[in-house]
Amino acid sequence: MGTSCSSGIRKAIMGGGSHKVCVCGAAGGIGQPLCLLMAMEPNVKELAIFDVNVAMVPADGVAEDLGHIESKVKVTGYSLGVDQPPKVHLNECLSGCSLVLVAAGMPRKPGMTRDHLFKVNADIAKGIVEACAKFCPQAVVALIVNPINSIVPAMAELYKKAGLDPKKIVGVTTLDCVRANKFVSDIVGCHPSNVEVPVIGGHDGITIMPVFSQEPMAARIDQSALEALDKKTQDAGTDVVNKKNGKGSATLSMAYAAARFGRAVLSGMSGKPAVECAYVKSEVTDLPYFASRVEFGRGGVSKVLHYGSLNNYEKGRLEEVKVQLKSEIQAGLKYAAHGQ
Ligand code: LMR
Repeated sequence: MGTSCSSGIRKAIMGGGSHKVCVCGAAGGIGQPLCLLMAMEPNVKELAIFDVNVAMVPADGVAEDLGHIESKVKVTGYSLGVDQPPKVHLNECLSGCSLVLVAAGMPRKPGMTRDHLFKVNADIAKGIVEACAKFCPQAVVALIVNPINSIVPAMAELYKKAGLDPKKIVGVTTLDCVRANKFVSDIVGCHPSNVEVPVIGGHDGITIMPVFSQEPMAARIDQSALEALDKKTQDAGTDVVNKKNGKGSATLSMAYAAARFGRAVLSGMSGKPAVECAYVKSEVTDLPYFASRVEFGRGGVSKVLHYGSLNNYEKGRLEEVKVQLKSEIQAGLKYAAHGQ
């Protein structure tokens, strides 16, 4: 019996790295597939799976389940009682983490905007971010918590107040890029991996701004179809919410996107800088937070890149983006100032 032809592939995708990663909200719809994908990442050594004990499935059960796949990644579950002091548990769960992926919070229902989730989700994110500030202040804290446009500024300002680097708080907007790539590839008939559309601005409605003019594959599509694709990318999350009919929002595509983002962060931390679009504290526009291409290096965010040249349609869109984003950022800053 020779070496099975799949054994090399299996080794390549199943852990063996040097980084500890935590997924918060690990038992939820995004959290579970995200944990599976992170347990298969070559740069991951240890995966801490955290959720509150009223989650759909106990985190310990998700960890036990995942602990049986052919991966070198060590998986540990942490279930926290909602009325239990988080201290001891979270210390062990978060200490030593390079990356914390936060997929906690409530999803939208049909008819709701992401903004409707602000108060409830900001309070959830705050508890986790405060624990990260205490137990893993050097980690990149990747927020997959809506509304990202307001929650990232709120949490980054809390980091700043605590004397920490606000750029450790990063809003995951990768799904917008993933969607734009997929929609372009469907039209031109190429593989989605050959398309890389930067999506700038934010992660809500008109603030989601694909820059199709910077992707050569999109040059094959006429301008009116690209404008329709712009709207389709903006509405894609709402389309999933509507089709799930009150039972949640994007989970599988979001987990895929968050894992792609996590891979870029860990690649940078492992000495191979990588670029992904992300929503961060920024100086590329006159707004203090903005999504654009970001380079990740050894310490997390190493460069926030300018959005580059835009065509006339995109220049008009950018002005529209900035008006809505400004008020959503202000909501986040107000939350940080008043602690609620
Ligand atoms: C998405 O874009 O799918 C997420 O932000 C979830 C949502 O509510 O749309």
